[in-house]
Amino acid sequence: MTKSFCFLSKKGGVGKTTFSLNCAHALAFSKFRTLLVDMDGQANLTRHLLKGAAGMEGVPGEPAKAPLPGSAVPAGFPDISQVLLRRCAPHEAILTTGYENLDLLAGSTSLDDLPILDARLIREPARFKLILQELAPDYDFILVDCPPIVNWLTRMVLFAVEGVIVPIQAEPYALQGLQDLIPMLDKMSATAQLYKIVINMYRANTQLHQNILKEIAEEFPGRIARQTVRQTIQLAEAAREGLSIFEYAPASIGALDLYALCWELFELSPDKVKLNVQARAEKAAPEAVTAPLAEENPV
Ligand SMILES: Nc1ncnc2c1ncn2[C@@H]1O[C@H](COP(=O)(O)OP(=O)(O)OP(=O)(O)O)[C@@H](O)[C@H]1O
Ligand SMILES: [Mg+2]
Repeated sequence: MTKSFCFLSKKGGVGKTTFSLNCAHALAFSKFRTLLVDMDGQANLTRHLLKGAAGMEGVPGEPAKAPLPGSAVPAGFPDISQVLLRRCAPHEAILTTGYENLDLLAGSTSLDDLPILDARLIREPARFKLILQELAPDYDFILVDCPPIVNWLTRMVLFAVEGVIVPIQAEPYALQGLQDLIPMLDKMSATAQLYKIVINMYRANTQLHQNILKEIAEEFPGRIARQTVRQTIQLAEAAREGLSIFEYAPASIGALDLYALCWELFELSPDKVKLNVQARAEKAAPEAVTAPLAEENPV
């Protein structure tokens, strides 16, 4: 069963793109087939993956090209806006990233203008859900990066995904921001249940951050991820290089926190990962996996 989540907040710069990208890398590394969908008109996620992945092979056999000015993907590469406008089938818009088990449905700088091209989009929030339903059989996880706003685009996402992850920064107005956002999410999300609030850029050695965490936990009991993500320059440096934190600084606190967060959010366990890795290996080469077992137990 495919599990789908979005990363959403009304505030910018709190870690939505950082979390979606690095969680997707962690899942793909554990051999879960993972699709990232960039629903943000800033297309930061897409630019990041284009920068890091030398083998962005949207068109098989063709080398990666530089994006055109004003666009996030190279000329001729499809993105989510064309799928939403029904100019392209969902499968045709999937880009391989050069990373095993990690695909991308690219974002587009024209996402925000789509209702001008097709006014029905705003009245048809199920369009995105239908796209994800069509793609779901090919993936174990679908992670959607949202823009820092709640608008028709994010409503479409909320209509389509099962879980919402809300990253926040432990700063004085964080609680107020959540008090505005969470009841609205609860009211308008058709299928999405609020899943978890995640505190990002946390500094446990400050009284301010400790107090803010306590206030939020009291206001939204059971909704805060146990795992916080500490502030570390290496996350920003990794983004600058177009790499995941697991490639850029695998032993850093950013990598440790994000890996642990990923296990908590997606309810992974050593057994689940082991079974998944085995199942994938069996699918890839059935004889290679079964042969040693046969030798160990001769009849
Ligand atoms: N734990 C962290 N420590 C240090 N820097 C971080 C951390 N998390 C994210 N950042 C950095 O903060 C900046 C904003 O993060 P990110 O782009 O993920 O936020 P966002 O919520 O997606 O922003 P937007 O709303 O504009 O899309 C980036 O430069 C990122 O590298
Ligand atoms: Mg972002």
